[in-house]
Amino acid sequence: MNCSPIGVFDSGLGGLSVLNEIRQQLPRESLLYVADCGYVPYGDKPPELIRQRSRQIAAFLLAQGAKALVVACNTATAAAINDLRSCYDLPIIGMEPAVKPATQATRSGVVGVLATTGTLQSAKFAALLDRFAGDVEVITQPCPGLVECVERGELHSPATRALLQRYVAPLLAAGCDTLILGCTHYPFLRPLLAELVPADVALIDTGAAVARQLGERLQAADIQTAAECAAQDAFWTTGSVAGMQQSMPALWRGPASVQPLSL
Ligand code: SIN
Repeated sequence: MNCSPIGVFDSGLGGLSVLNEIRQQLPRESLLYVADCGYVPYGDKPPELIRQRSRQIAAFLLAQGAKALVVACNTATAAAINDLRSCYDLPIIGMEPAVKPATQATRSGVVGVLATTGTLQSAKFAALLDRFAGDVEVITQPCPGLVECVERGELHSPATRALLQRYVAPLLAAGCDTLILGCTHYPFLRPLLAELVPADVALIDTGAAVARQLGERLQAADIQTAAECAAQDAFWTTGSVAGMQQSMPALWRGPASVQPLSL
């Protein structure tokens, strides 16, 4: 048993989609969240820069007492999780586009992946396809600009709709019946996506699975929080505190007071 917090980070606010799942599944755990908004988006940045940012943020979270880390960003996981695991001896959980469940669920045999350029170009993603795609046709769609829409809190604006429509249309035309949301920002666009795709097209992300995996890892290491501890969450941004504070109510279900972080 261990009442220390769990450290979670993302390039920006997308990781809050994972944080919501963690809060729901692990209500006693205290959560620390760093939004690297000063560097968002990660999707078009060189992997070396993302590794550097990830190391600095991980070091900060560990200094705050984190007992486990969640890299709540697909792009940062692809670029930096091996590096973080080689630096730190604690549970480190990352994201992964849901290729396995999607290829198992598809009936048309065609699956679409919405993700950042960084994720789609990574060796980790290539390995995932090699391992799980099998006979399923997997069509990838990089989505520049979508992360920024979510960061601005534009979850339903005409501009976000037009961009999403542009990215989804070729996937639907190719016969995809399953779309993978391969970036933690995209689950916040589910309501809009549901208006743009037929009702029988499945939308899959891995936030809930990652929260489940985190719970299992805490239990296996016997470091889950004891019943008598009260959860206390904390939020930092390397970007604009006012901007994050303004977007938070649409993205995070609990109370939040955001602090500035200079890294
Ligand atoms: C980004 O910052 O470009 C995307 C974050 C992600 O891949 O989840």
